[in-house]
Amino acid sequence: MLTDVQQEILRLKKEKDFCILAHCYQTPDILEIADFTGDSFALSTKAMDVPNKNILMCGVRFMAETVKIFSPEKHVYLSKSDAGCPMAEQLTPEELRSLKAQYPEHTVVAYVNTTSALKTLCDVCVTSSSAVQILKKMPEQKILFIPDCNLGDFVQKQVPDKEIVMIKGGCPVHGAMTAGDVMKAKAAHPDAKFLVHPECPPEVTAMADYAGSTTGIMDYAVKSEAKSFIIGTENSIVQHLQLMCPDKMFYPLSKRCVCHDMKLTTLVDVLNVLKGTEGEEILMDEEMRLKAKGCMDRMLELGQ
Ligand code: 13P
Ligand code: SF4
Repeated sequence: MLTDVQQEILRLKKEKDFCILAHCYQTPDILEIADFTGDSFALSTKAMDVPNKNILMCGVRFMAETVKIFSPEKHVYLSKSDAGCPMAEQLTPEELRSLKAQYPEHTVVAYVNTTSALKTLCDVCVTSSSAVQILKKMPEQKILFIPDCNLGDFVQKQVPDKEIVMIKGGCPVHGAMTAGDVMKAKAAHPDAKFLVHPECPPEVTAMADYAGSTTGIMDYAVKSEAKSFIIGTENSIVQHLQLMCPDKMFYPLSKRCVCHDMKLTTLVDVLNVLKGTEGEEILMDEEMRLKAKGCMDRMLELGQ
């Protein structure tokens, strides 16, 4: 049963020709009114196929920028201006330029969690669900991987023939998970399968039964015969899985695994963007968009 606010959102969405995209880390009331939900990869490409002239991204800034890069003709909105991803802003374009000068023979692979300005300097983009496949397909041997060294380490273990240089960066939320958290959760739930996002540190990922993107974790849990799971990613996934599979049990790896940027958007913010009283339209200089699109196009080409 939809609430009055949700019904008003659905009415306005149709009237104003909006498509609402929501990352899986958003709250259930937002996922219920979204046209598409998914991980970073699914959302980055989805907007290209929709007929609507307006797109609202419920997520963080780099996700809205990614939509704009692929769909310049659409009006793309971010529900909350200050919903950023701290990892996306860890490296400045100047710092990347000096890294490139240090490693002139290396191909720059960027996690999609980067600003558009950084993407203009990169060769290929990857997401957590496509990174291993893309690195395997790339003919280049020498890679400079930015900015998440935990994801970089996860990829390196599965693509050992490449020489991957990493920098010290990553997600402050997933990166704060520890082996101690895993031991504590496993002691409390000894029969549970442990599913983890590769943004977690290598010693945490090494203890998992499965490591993959947000939707990879959700698919695994839904299809698995197991009855209980420790979830090593943002805690909204625990909540969503519990609603999707009430006959199974889901436990957070740690109550600290919460992304406050992802949690900034509320259902009323969504309503206000549709009313035109809140939200920020993403505007991008065409030269920057075209330069940033290069590494995103290569991601699509290699990630199919
Ligand atoms: P995915 O959506 O690719 O799983 O990434 C998780 C994340 O932290 C998004 O910011
Ligand atoms: Fe960024 Fe981490 Fe939040 Fe994802 S969970 S948006 S990587 S800070």
